[in-house]
Amino acid sequence: MSTFQAPKGTYDLIPPESAKYLAVREAIAAPLKNSGYGYIETPGFENVELFSRGVGESTDIVSKEMYAFETKGGTKLALRPEGTASVLRAALQANLHKLGNLPVKLWYSGSYYRYERPQKGRYRHFSQVGAEAIGAEDPALDAELIILADQAYRTLGLSQFRILLNSLGDKECRPVYRDALQGFLRGLELDEDTRRRVEINPLRVLDDKRAVVQKQLVGAPLLRDYLCDACKAYHEEVRELLTAAGVAYQDDEKLVRGLDYYTRTTFEFVHDGLGSQSAVGGGGRYDGLSEMIGGPALPSVGWALGVDRTVLALEAEGIELELPATTSVFAVPLGEEARRVLFGLVTELRRAGVATDFSYAGKGLKGAMKSANRSGARYALVAGERDLAEGVVQLKDMQSGEQSPVALADAVDAIRERLA
Ligand code: HAM
Repeated sequence: MSTFQAPKGTYDLIPPESAKYLAVREAIAAPLKNSGYGYIETPGFENVELFSRGVGESTDIVSKEMYAFETKGGTKLALRPEGTASVLRAALQANLHKLGNLPVKLWYSGSYYRYERPQKGRYRHFSQVGAEAIGAEDPALDAELIILADQAYRTLGLSQFRILLNSLGDKECRPVYRDALQGFLRGLELDEDTRRRVEINPLRVLDDKRAVVQKQLVGAPLLRDYLCDACKAYHEEVRELLTAAGVAYQDDEKLVRGLDYYTRTTFEFVHDGLGSQSAVGGGGRYDGLSEMIGGPALPSVGWALGVDRTVLALEAEGIELELPATTSVFAVPLGEEARRVLFGLVTELRRAGVATDFSYAGKGLKGAMKSANRSGARYALVAGERDLAEGVVQLKDMQSGEQSPVALADAVDAIRERLA
């Protein structure tokens, strides 16, 4: 072991488990790529104000969990705690919204950082795959995103997840509700921290998981009863489109989410096998975010799915992903001359697209065959001086144990044929 360890709240992805993470990212991205979303990548850090304005000064993410720092040049930056504000910033900066083809549909995959209290499923460095559809107000877009996330989870084989759905209203109806809720909450017996929250962000109090708080919330005014006609009609259409697509959801009037930019549709994917960190993904509409960060009005919607928690969900359901073998052929040279010849053949095979590995450091036959076994290769390619003198290499089927000579000159084609 070295003197150093991965920092608290982080962990390393190491083979063979790391392949699962790649496969999960792929599985989440596939339906997006298939639905008109283009790949976007933004920096790992941004101007800190992008998040304080966008995600919201009163949120835990900004007030407690951000890795903010000042550069030597005096610029205030923060490691990105989430992707939406950055993606919208990048789209505005590149004027994507002016190209006359709205919505701009983008997907991304990367690392995010939150200084949270670490526990299973909650890390300080975690990974998300996300999607944002920028610049259009259309319930079909909200539905599309939820359907695509559902499709991604189902392709992975997950079934024990639920979709929670709510509408947070818009700038017309939410302030009226906020006032009503605040009035109700001010009459409750709450600790000082929560009383402060009532003043800054009363909707977040609905999200409080503690029984003492939840008990008092019975009878709290519900946003549903305050939604304006436009929001109601919008929400109803999202629900109908989901139902028509065969995607089941649960209405959850208390779902408010931990980021301030949401308007109208909000949703969360929760997995029942994960304990307290059960949200595997979440998202919603953020019609006002562009203006909050200095852009034009661009109604938008998106989600991000947590890769770490999705892997935990697979484990909870006992799902083993079928991962493609990383190595098809493993070459075992016996002797110096064979080493040179087989290394050349390995290079040719790799150039021909065959996943091939080689026994290095002059290992003997026994040790080299052990490595071949561990690599999961379908074939071992063995050659010694006598084989070379006859112009052949031995191709050993690692499943049946059968071995047969193949002419060195035709080896690449012969191996490709057998693997096909
Ligand atoms: P979020 O709900 O904060 O939303 O994060 C999305 C997902 O990221 C969560 O459901 C969870 O799976 C994962 N996640 C968040 N924090 C952690 C953590 N500390 N450790 C492990 N996993 C974590 C957003 O980030 C929004 N940007 C989603 C969005 C996109 N809304 C609109 N567009």
